[in-house]
Amino acid sequence: MEWVPSLISVAMMLLSAFAFLFMPKASNLKRKLPPGPPGWPLFGHMFNLGTDPHITTAKLKEIYGPVLWLQIGSLNTMVILTAKAAAEFFKNHDISFADRNLVEVLHSHNFHKSSLVLAPYGTHWRVLRRLCTVEMFVQKKINETESVRRKCIDDMLLWIEEETNSNMEDGGGILVTRFIFLAAFNMLGNLMLSRNLVDPKSKKASEFYTAMMGVMEWPGKPNISDVFSFLKPFDLQGLKKKCDRDVGKALEIASAFVKQRLNEQNEGQEKRKDFLDVLVEFEGIGKDESDKLSEHDINVFIVEMFLAGSETTSSSTEWVLTELLRHPEEMAKVQAEIDNVVEARRKFEEKYIDKLPYLQAVVKEVFRLHPPLPFLVPRKATGDTNFMDYQIPKNTQVFVNAWAIGRDPDTWDDPMSFKPQRFIDSKIDYKGQHFELIPFGAGRRMCAAIPLAHRMLHVVLGSLLHEFNWELDGSIKGKPIDMRDKVGSTMRKLMPLKVVPRKRTV
Ligand code: HEM
Repeated sequence: MEWVPSLISVAMMLLSAFAFLFMPKASNLKRKLPPGPPGWPLFGHMFNLGTDPHITTAKLKEIYGPVLWLQIGSLNTMVILTAKAAAEFFKNHDISFADRNLVEVLHSHNFHKSSLVLAPYGTHWRVLRRLCTVEMFVQKKINETESVRRKCIDDMLLWIEEETNSNMEDGGGILVTRFIFLAAFNMLGNLMLSRNLVDPKSKKASEFYTAMMGVMEWPGKPNISDVFSFLKPFDLQGLKKKCDRDVGKALEIASAFVKQRLNEQNEGQEKRKDFLDVLVEFEGIGKDESDKLSEHDINVFIVEMFLAGSETTSSSTEWVLTELLRHPEEMAKVQAEIDNVVEARRKFEEKYIDKLPYLQAVVKEVFRLHPPLPFLVPRKATGDTNFMDYQIPKNTQVFVNAWAIGRDPDTWDDPMSFKPQRFIDSKIDYKGQHFELIPFGAGRRMCAAIPLAHRMLHVVLGSLLHEFNWELDGSIKGKPIDMRDKVGSTMRKLMPLKVVPRKRTV
């Protein structure tokens, strides 16, 4: 991990003084824990995991089986590596692991106290989750906002064309994912606040967007303070400081949007019926629910939806384009399916999605091989728990390795090959019932926005494949595509995809 060389010396100095604090606790020694490799005193398995912990832990399944035990510094960690163990986890123990493990930087400006994604399993989580599933991410609401997404896609297609035409580089390729990210960001901006928040042509990049890029970056960085809690006050890597700055800025701007809306409502202006209106108008019903959401709750909710929705959507789209470029026969097949369904000279519309089983199969196959969150969002044991005959201590963090599960040869035929056909005539989907394919997680803490994410992803992809033929940048054409990934806030391509779009006439 990138911080290891600079911090190893600090940690070594502290080793002798603090070792006794971090030796396995007597209570842990007596427990029956899942198997795992031997670790270092104090550091445990911190250095064994390397830069690709999803790959490293997947390999350990061969030696230790479906459930792995690791000690990452002072953090007890359980890793789930097979569909069968995931089924046991989500079907029979979901509630015992329904809390989240909190990373230190997200304590910035008390972000964690209002967050839905990080909330402990309790009243605050239940209120926000209910708003998501009943008021925001339901099919009816999503249908009503189709025109908003259409506008963002039209902008994206235009930006891509303009960038391609003005591109002077030898290979002719553009970094297409940037425009997909901006389109996803604007879709969320319109759903939540009824406004576009970014335009790549504007010289002065939107302040909100810039702050949000920081908020996305810092929590994805490995932080020694998460591993050794006694180091928190020192913020040795300066990550908390940077996160304080960017979270502060993002919340300040979100707060200005909220204040403006409250003023509009006081002046009797017409309601917009976007997510912000839903949040502002919320009234608690349960006896333990507060009457209203605080301004801080609303600001954090807004920031969090951008965090949850934009990078996941754009990195998945980048992997789809990459796999299709690697497999031209699949690209031809999916484009032919789209051409058959989309009426002549029409734009790609959301109503077509259900009629495109092969496009949907391509998306599933990409989620199987490249889940954007390879460890989902880590869970935490709410109390001491018995799981598969192991005695898991309270506060153990749990990584469900969706990446390993998607590539497990005991579950999938020929798992390393890209074969969307495997999902045709198969009932497997990614809505949390089929534990061999869980890019959105499962159980109570499953992604709160699957219907929206499904829609955004398919309409973006359908439009990109309908409007353009895609070729690799001249400098890499004819060479094998670099398929390495890197894990940050999501699992992206290590080498960003550079492609040449050619306008189609259909
Ligand atoms: C390709 C797109 C997406 C993927 C792959 C994805 C994946 C995930 C995963 C793996 C989790 C954790 C599940 C678990 O713990 O079991 C999650 C949680 C969540 N996601 Fe998504 N997500 C996507 C898009 C979105 C979008 C567009 C939004 C909202 C605008 C969103 C909002 C959330 C929220 C609020 C949670 C927290 C749920 C909770 O803790 O109760 N996600 N997502």
